This record gives sequence, structure tokens and C-alpha cells, in this order.
Amino acid sequence: MVYMRYYTKISYFIHNRLQRYNKKTTYARKKCFLFAYMQIFLYLCTVMKKHFFFPLLAVVLIGTSCSQRASKSDAEMDRFINRLMAQMTLAEKLGQLNLPVSGDIVTGQVRESNVAQDIRQGRVGGLFNIKGAEAIREVQRIAVEESRLGIPLLFGMDVIHGYETVFPIPLALACSWDMEAIERSAQIAAAEATADGICWTFSPMVDICHDGRWGRISEGSGEDPYLGSRAAEAMVHGYQGASLADPTTMMACVKHFALYGAVEAGREYNNVYLDDYHMFNEYLPPYQAAINAGAGSVMAAFNTVHGVPSTGNRWLLTDLLRTRWGFQGFVVSDYCGLEQLQDHGVCASLEQAAIQSLDAGLDMDMVSNGLNGTLAQAVREGRCSAKAVDQACRRILEAKYKLGLFDDPYRYCDAERREQVILSPAHRAEARRIASECMVLLKNDNHLLPLKKQGTIALIGPLADTRTNMPGTWSVAAVPERYKTIKEGLESALAGTGARLLYAKGANVCYDAELEARATMFGREMRDPRSAASMRAEALRIARQADVIIATMGEASEMSGESASLVHIEMPDAQHDLLVELARLGKPIILVHFAGRPTVLNWETEHLQAILEAWFSGSETADALADILFGEANPSGHLCVQLPRHVGQYPFSYRQMRTSRLNPGGEFNKYSTCYLDVSNTPLYPFGYGLSYTSFAYSPVTLSADTMTLNGQVTASVTVTNTGSRTGSEVVQLYIGDPVAQGVRPYKELRGFERLTLAPGESRELSFTLNADRLGYYDPYQLHWTLEAGEIAVMIGPNARDTQERKLMVGEAR
Ligand code: BGC
Repeated sequence: MVYMRYYTKISYFIHNRLQRYNKKTTYARKKCFLFAYMQIFLYLCTVMKKHFFFPLLAVVLIGTSCSQRASKSDAEMDRFINRLMAQMTLAEKLGQLNLPVSGDIVTGQVRESNVAQDIRQGRVGGLFNIKGAEAIREVQRIAVEESRLGIPLLFGMDVIHGYETVFPIPLALACSWDMEAIERSAQIAAAEATADGICWTFSPMVDICHDGRWGRISEGSGEDPYLGSRAAEAMVHGYQGASLADPTTMMACVKHFALYGAVEAGREYNNVYLDDYHMFNEYLPPYQAAINAGAGSVMAAFNTVHGVPSTGNRWLLTDLLRTRWGFQGFVVSDYCGLEQLQDHGVCASLEQAAIQSLDAGLDMDMVSNGLNGTLAQAVREGRCSAKAVDQACRRILEAKYKLGLFDDPYRYCDAERREQVILSPAHRAEARRIASECMVLLKNDNHLLPLKKQGTIALIGPLADTRTNMPGTWSVAAVPERYKTIKEGLESALAGTGARLLYAKGANVCYDAELEARATMFGREMRDPRSAASMRAEALRIARQADVIIATMGEASEMSGESASLVHIEMPDAQHDLLVELARLGKPIILVHFAGRPTVLNWETEHLQAILEAWFSGSETADALADILFGEANPSGHLCVQLPRHVGQYPFSYRQMRTSRLNPGGEFNKYSTCYLDVSNTPLYPFGYGLSYTSFAYSPVTLSADTMTLNGQVTASVTVTNTGSRTGSEVVQLYIGDPVAQGVRPYKELRGFERLTLAPGESRELSFTLNADRLGYYDPYQLHWTLEAGEIAVMIGPNARDTQERKLMVGEAR
């Protein structure tokens, strides 16, 4: 009884504290409470002499009941935000919508910078691309302790394929077709970034792309909406985990909404012209998949959709995203996307751009300072709705609440955890394993690979001894000085064996020094001042002494990524000329090819014995590559984009729609859809990839030849490892709908499974076929539909080599 009285008294005391500190709504108030708890505990200990247990119990009980806020039920969150917003001025609400870049803050001018002043005045909602827990803690301290309401900031960063432990670029990750690996890579990225202050990542990038000229194809999962959707879900789950309240998870931001991968001619920042039918069937599914997986935020794209820039596009940001898809999180613009409504010529002023964007459904403005900078007057003068400002502000505050920033604004600056997790041996080991799963073996004549660790090996090419080129584009947190070069990776793999490794650079990336400077801008690689002839002569001298040549060649890392569109997507000239000379020596050559896009490899396929597509495989590239080359790992990557024969084939996808002048074979055929001078087929098909072992497929069977419209049938196949090594195969299910209301592709991926088999081992795989798996968005209502008629069910190791069975669905038409 007596303890009950204490409990009531203490609750009352706490209640009073709450009233007193009502104005300090955030961390400062929490600190006061912590202090209060300590006081209570000491007081109780004194009153009750040596009975520590009950005072402790009382304090714990109170603490638990007060921290129920952390249970984050929607009603509690609403109450908390209502209270907070009731105290906010219009200027403070608009401040929450403002996302400046950290720029001047990271330089150490924290206290004097403009951004710092804005933070103090409550005019900033978040910051991005600031690295390091100390810097972030200091900026957060300004927000929490020096602004009127102490609202914490969001800290964002482009953590798109790892933090300091860098995973392969997303295009490569998708080539693993291993969703667990992709999810794990995102989970590790989150574990590292969140220990270093970041709570929000601008990833996943899910833009479907049919054009290898576009440099940003490197940041997405390739050309296919089904594979892209699965990868998008895996990334969101990896970043966000089971709950954003867990401080080792961070909020995802699905981008670039929408259709950025379809920019005309593959030219960066260009416009998009797509009809709704193709949008819904080809391009939109991965965004929706990421949203259904719970992505907390969305980034509006730079490009137009239906002739209106995404950032100010109400159909896109409200009708589709919120009304049709039910998205509940917040929408941020891309970098200066808001002010660029003026460049697009749809708004005459920054204020007009801000009004249009807010009305369209934009909540946060990256860098333009349009929402924060212009809307106060517009609201006062009735040109902009105060309700819309409240709505956007609420969404930002909800994100902060869900991330736990109101509970502890420093929860993501964890020095101890940072030491343990960032670039930890365990993370690096996982990145190495995953990198080896992403490399795609395109050619391997006479089982040249794997190599034995013997004899003399010549390692040649401008990408063999570079650190900065390995992680790939958008590795903003990378620390290349801590990664190995390919040369170092092979040296350590060969240490203690009888094998000799010789090295020569052989060529610069390309002859054009200016182009090379642009392509290595962030890599800051030094161009070799020697003449092309002398570099080549040195390489040939080395190669002559070798039994086998490993040529490490291709693109430099900044030849893909943002603002890196190309029309020449074959081997850069200086490296091509070197390869031609090397091939003349008649020695076996393995090309380890680096690229952030699908490239044209015709000459290489014709003249070289082995080709391994290594993409850009992250911080552990060197060791992962050694694992593959010497057979510690067996290649299992399969292309998530087909490789063309010529850049002129773009836009180009295996999901070719049926046309009036069919040409399924792809060779020249007068008056059919084709070119005079090049086949329609790819050089390497979508889904393709070799292994050091071989797999046999049994005939595909269907559990029934007919199915009702809402029925279900199973397609099965047995796959056997017929070689002598354990290996992984990606079994792919495609469908074709030869007669539908809308024109359908000949083949479209609708399922896959990755399985690992020991030599001689067999496994049966089954895919369930039903309306979910077989339907499409019809061209009239854009509803998911399965129409009666025949469906071709195809299974195989890639989009070209499939077996087909016919399934009759519902009534035949
Ligand atoms: C890119 C975005 C990126 C943003 C912030 C923009 O230029 O288009 O993908 O998230 O910058 O770094």
C-alpha cells in the first residue's frame, strides 16, 4: 500500500514535470526527465533506507509507462505530432520541408555556416551527404539544443550499394538473382551507415532501363520488371528490417519516381514518353513492389511523365502513388528538382514551382529551398493552402517519429557500434562472397577457367592496379585506400604457390585524355604520362613470357552512374588496340571485364577464350575475383540485362512486344521488323551465365493442361548437376500470351529460383501458375487481368534457351 502511494506521488511529480517542460517537446525534455528519474530514485532510497528493490521497481514501472511512446502506435504518434504541431509557426513547419545539402557544414564551419543558422531558426528538416558520426552529432546538437522546438534532423545519404563495406553495383547485385544476398547487402549497409549517423538512404533505385547508353543503368536492377520488383523488395526489407525503431535499420527511399530509366535516347536528364499501358506493365511494378514492401519515402524523378515534370506532377504523386497505391510515407524531390520546373518551362518562378509541387504531393524539397523559401508569403496571401503545408510537415515528423529520433536524436551516432561494424571482417567476408555471385561468366572455351595456381600469369590492363575504380559509381562512403587492387588480390591468392604473376598497365583507359578525366573524376586516378606505344610494348614483352594472360579492362567507374551517358559502349579504343595485339601472340586470354552497363563485346567474343563480366564489384572485388579465377568460387551470375551486338539496337529488351511484322528469329527478312546490317538478337541473352559445372533440365511438366481463370496449375522441372563441381543455377520461368486484348511480349519472366547442387544431385522445382503469376494490366482499364486463352509456359536457364508447354486458361477465345 505504502509503495502504491509512492507510485501515485511519483506519477504526479512526473505529470508536473511534463507540464513544466511542455514547451521543450523533444530531447531536451527527455534529458530533464532522466534527471527527474534520478532524483526520484535517490529520494526513494533515502526514504526507504536500504530497500533498493521497491524504489527501483517503481521507477522502472514509471519509466516503462512513460516510454510507451516508443511503442509507436499510430494514435500515440498522432497525439505527439498534434501537440508538437500546435506549437509550430508556419515558418517552422515549412522548415521541416527543407532538405539542404550539407556542403559547408562538413568543412568544419558548423557554427558559422548558413545551414547552421537555418537549423537554429528551425528552417531545416534534414541534411544529406554528410559523413561521420561526430560531424552529424554536432549538427544534430545544434538542431536539438539551439532551435526553439528542438526538433531533430533527418540525415540522408546515397548508400546505394554498401557503406564502407561496398557491395557490387546494383546492376551486378541483380545478376546474382539471389534475393537473400541482396537483402543481406542492404542490411549490412544499414548496420554500417546507422552506426555512423545516417538514418535515411536514397535507395533502392528501381528504374527499369532498356538502354545501355544511360549511365544510371548501373544503379538499378536491369531491364526486367519482375526481377526488378523482387530486388526492390529485398532491398527495402534489408534497409528497414522488421521495424524502423531498430537503430540498426534505416528508412529507404524508392527512386526515381517515375520512369527515369526510360529517358529518350538514353541521354541523361532527358524526357520520357511512355503510354500508360507500357508504364503499368513494364516500368511501374518495381516502384509499387518497393512501396508494398513498406518503403518509407519516395524520390520524385527529374524527368517528365505525361508531359509534366515528376516533381510537380499531381497524377503521379497523388492520384497514382497515394490514391491508387496507398502510399503513406513522404515524397522528396531529387536534387534541385523543384526549381527545375522553371527550366522545364512549366513554372515562371520558384514560388510557382513550390506551389505546384506541394499541390502535386511533394513533401520535401532537396536543395532548391523553394518550399521553405517562398511559401510563407504564398500561404499568407492565399495562393497556397496552409492545410497542404501541414500535411507535408506531418509526414516528415512521422518519419522522424518512426525512426525514433524524438526518443533519442543521437541514436544513430554510436561510436562503439561504429568501431565494431564498419568494414568489419564479417561484413567484408559477406561482401566477398556476394561479389563472386554477381560476376557473370560469358565464355569459357576448353574450360580455361578456373586457372591452376601454377606457371606464369600476365596481368595486363589499366584496371588491374587501381583502387578507386573498384567500388563503382555512387560509393559515396567508400574508403578505397583500405581496399585491394586486383593485382594485390591475385598476389595474395598466389602467395606461397609456384605461380609467377607479372604485371603491366598496357594502356590508359582511352586515348582521349579529356574523356578519361571525365570518366575518373571522382576516382582521381592519375593518367599514365607514357606514350601508348611504349605502354603497349611493355605489356607485349610481359605477355610473351606468360602461359596465360588475364586482361583486366573495360570502363572506368565513372563512365557509368549519374551524368555518364555514352554512345560508344564497346571496349574503349586504347584498350581494344592493346587486346588486338595481345591476341596476336596466340596465348590464351581471359578478359575480366569491368562495366557499369551492358556493353558490346563482339570482337572479344570472337577472339578471346574466356570472358568474365565483373561489373564493379565493390570493396572486395580483388579477393572475389581471385576466388573465381582460381576456382574457390564457382561462377553463378546470370545477366539481368541482355548484351547487344550494336549500340544502334537500343532501346532493346528481351521483352520484345509482338508486332505487325513479326520476326522472332531476328535475322534479316525483307518487310519484317529488323535491320539490314545487324540481327535483332542480343549477343548474350537476358538471364544468361555459365558455371564451371553443367546442368541438365528434364522435360517441363504441367499438373494439368487446362486451368480455370481463378484456378491453379503447377509447372515442374527437375534440374541435375551433370558436372564435377558444386554449382548454383538460376532456373527461370517465362510466359507468353499469344492472344490478349493488349499486345504482349513473346516472353516475360514470371518466376525464378536459384538452387545449389552437388555433382550428380538433382532437384525438382515447381512454380505455381495462377492469375497473379500469369496476368497483366489490360490496356483499357489498367486492371490486373487474366484473360481466357492459351498461355505458353517456358522454363530454362536464360531467356533464349527455354522449353515450352501450353496451358489453356478458361474458355478459349
Ligand atoms: C541523384 C539522386 C541522388 C541525389 C542526392 C541526385 O543528383 O539523381 O539519385 O539521390 O542526387 O545525392
